[in-house]
Amino acid sequence: MALLAVCALVLAGCTEARNPGGGNQDASLDATPQDDGQDTLSELPPKDVAEGMGEALAEPGTETGTEPVAETEAVTEPGTETLTETAVEAADDAVLAELPDDSVAPPLTCHDCHGDAASPAPPPDTQGNTSTSAKGVGFHRAHLAGVITHAPTACNQCHVVPAQVLAQGHMNGTAEVVFGSLATHQGELAPAWDGATTCSNVYCHGATLSGGSNKQPGWTTGFPQGNACGYCHGYPPPAPHAQMDSCSSCHPVFDAQGAFLDGKHVNGTLDVAGGACNTCHGSDDNPAPPLGTNQEESTSAKAVGAHQSHLKAAHTISSPIACTECHLVPQNASDPGHLDTALPAEVTFGTLARTGGAQAQWSDGSVTCTSVYCHGATLQGGSNKTPAWTTVNGTQAACGTCHALPPKTGRHPNNFGDHAWMGSNCTNCHDGMTNTTGNAVTNPALHVNGVKDVKLKIGTWSGASKTCNSNCHEEVVHW
Ligand code: HEC
Ligand code: HEC
Ligand code: HEC
Ligand code: HEC
Ligand code: HEC
Ligand code: HEC
Ligand code: HEC
Ligand code: HEC
Repeated sequence: MALLAVCALVLAGCTEARNPGGGNQDASLDATPQDDGQDTLSELPPKDVAEGMGEALAEPGTETGTEPVAETEAVTEPGTETLTETAVEAADDAVLAELPDDSVAPPLTCHDCHGDAASPAPPPDTQGNTSTSAKGVGFHRAHLAGVITHAPTACNQCHVVPAQVLAQGHMNGTAEVVFGSLATHQGELAPAWDGATTCSNVYCHGATLSGGSNKQPGWTTGFPQGNACGYCHGYPPPAPHAQMDSCSSCHPVFDAQGAFLDGKHVNGTLDVAGGACNTCHGSDDNPAPPLGTNQEESTSAKAVGAHQSHLKAAHTISSPIACTECHLVPQNASDPGHLDTALPAEVTFGTLARTGGAQAQWSDGSVTCTSVYCHGATLQGGSNKTPAWTTVNGTQAACGTCHALPPKTGRHPNNFGDHAWMGSNCTNCHDGMTNTTGNAVTNPALHVNGVKDVKLKIGTWSGASKTCNSNCHEEVVHW
């Protein structure tokens, strides 16, 4: 009957194809017009197979168990290989509908020589092999199926797909592997198939990614047992990548159940959250740590340190210090300079820290700031001008740490005998800014604001000429 006739023809075709110069201009092949459906083959996800093969990744090494189409008939030609021809029953399947129909004459369809009605990809291969351990079969179906980690991989990611049976380069005796745009990452990479067992330098298997324990998968053996999430890239990728397991908090590629959203994984694009600033660091209060990008909570962690002391100014000696005084702050998560460099985070001082020409510096090594205006770099005296970022107990906000009380400058009481009687009452000259005993700041907005604020209790002060016009003196006095 027709089926047998087709198979006989097929075997002839295959034999000749494996026999270069053997006349594959066979009239019956010649007369095989392929319908338009062929052109779209490269994009056809063999859906039924996808479902049937869903376990392939999870169960490495297992053979392709599920036959998607119910009725299978083995046809044996004496003295030749066994071909498995599958009856096309799933006529309702849109994918299958686009494949050439056995009933169309002349009869050669793609799966007459390899693959089956569900997909022209092996198994069976051109030799009739069906085991994944055969090179011609390998892990075709695991790729073609949409398994847990990826969408179906089209034929054209690994082959030039012949538009018709007799297309040049098709049955030329070698099954060429020619990688497509995903595997090459738009031509950026030059992946290689070694002709026998494995692929290397393939985007899909993590060639561009850091970490990963199995970037050269076995074509006929599949993945070894283990955590598949760590094969192609680290899980998570090694530092400087955030050492956090909650991938979904920064990568919007998962649904609520933690399964990959369709087409988001191994799709050629690294998806990173661009949402609220406190998605990846910070809290409901503000986007500054805690939490750090690695979920640090303690102020003794460098990522956290004295952030909130600065931002909330609970020490009451100054106004809150904005992020911009210590960082270039992105408007959007994807802005240059934000996520495109490795940890540690960049500290880029704003104008305040550099007031008066201070050469403000952050040392990631010693976890301290040096030469910062805010901590008295330009001022006389002070017991601790290189504050430790991770010492957060109020000691570094105490009077006397950033400047002497008062500094021994100008006609400050400790520097000028006539004023000595004022002692530590700063309010004669810094009225409204401190208490009368000089150990509390009463107007934080005027303190550590980049300006020497002088307000005389009696008389006026000219900052420009540094002179007092005070009732205390008979004439204008230079500071
Ligand atoms: C992930 C890469 C990949 C994809 C996707 C893929 N193939 Fe292959 N294919 C291979 C490899 C590797 C071989 C073995 C090449 C060799 O023998 O050197 C192969 C071999 C073949 C062979 C030759 C089998 C034999 O008997 O030697 C056929 C036919 C074939 N593929 C068809 C397809 C078709 C049709 C599709 C799409 C439905 C497809 N392949 C998708 C990688 C792939
Ligand atoms: C007459 C038998 C026959 C038919 C029909 C056939 N193929 Fe092939 N195909 C082969 C053989 C044999 C190979 C192994 C490679 C070789 O010999 O060059 C192959 C290999 C392939 C490959 C691997 C890449 C390559 O070119 O080597 C792809 C992809 C492929 N075929 C797709 C198709 C598609 C699509 C159709 C339908 C348009 C089709 N084949 C129809 C015999 C056939
Ligand atoms: C076959 C190789 C491979 C395996 C296995 C794999 N990944 Fe990936 N993964 C990639 C590639 C390639 C990327 C690069 C981004 C892209 O193309 O989607 C990626 C990116 C990611 C990303 C970043 C977000 C993005 O863009 O997709 C997350 C999160 C991720 N993978 C989680 C996982 C988890 C969870 C598993 C285990 C279920 C896993 N991966 C297994 C290849 C793999
Ligand atoms: C705190 C946020 C955050 C978390 C949590 C996170 N990532 Fe990422 N990931 C990023 C950012 C940001 C990038 C981009 C880094 C860059 O552009 O260099 C990235 C990049 C990647 C990349 C590409 C790496 C490379 O070498 O190019 C992969 C793969 C990835 N993440 C996987 C994961 C996996 C898997 C997890 C969970 C185990 C995870 N990520 C958790 C923020 C995160
Ligand atoms: C007083 C200076 C200062 C202010 C203000 C400040 N930061 Fe930081 N920030 C730092 C320092 C210092 C580090 C640690 C840098 C390092 O690790 O080398 C840091 C680190 C970070 C990190 C990286 C944390 C990690 O996981 O390593 C983030 C994120 C961050 N800051 C965000 C912010 C945001 C958002 C604000 C404002 C809401 C802010 N910072 C305000 C000084 C500051
Ligand atoms: C996808 C996760 C993610 C999102 C969303 C995010 N950040 Fe970050 N942010 C990071 C990571 C990771 C770092 C550490 C970057 C590094 O190593 O330099 C960082 C660092 C920072 C820093 C420290 C300076 C720097 O660039 O290193 C600031 C400030 C900051 N982020 C502010 C913001 C703001 C403002 C937003 C909202 C517009 C935001 N972040 C959104 C992950 C994120
Ligand atoms: C973190 C460092 C720091 C600490 C701690 C500190 N100061 Fe200051 N103080 C400054 C700086 C910087 C100035 C320079 C003027 C400015 O920018 O406000 C200043 C200036 C002053 C002035 C001059 C008026 C002015 O603001 O221009 C007074 C008065 C003063 N401080 C009192 C105090 C008292 C009282 C305390 C303890 C409650 C104190 N300071 C603790 C950094 C500090
Ligand atoms: C007799 C008036 C007077 C008294 C009292 C006084 N200051 Fe000042 N202070 C000034 C003047 C004037 C300046 C501005 C100097 C300038 O512009 O160069 C100043 C500047 C400062 C500065 C800026 C640094 C500097 O050396 O110029 C600090 C810090 C400061 N005073 C702290 C104090 C503290 C703390 C007290 C109380 C313990 C205090 N002062 C008491 C008059 C006084």
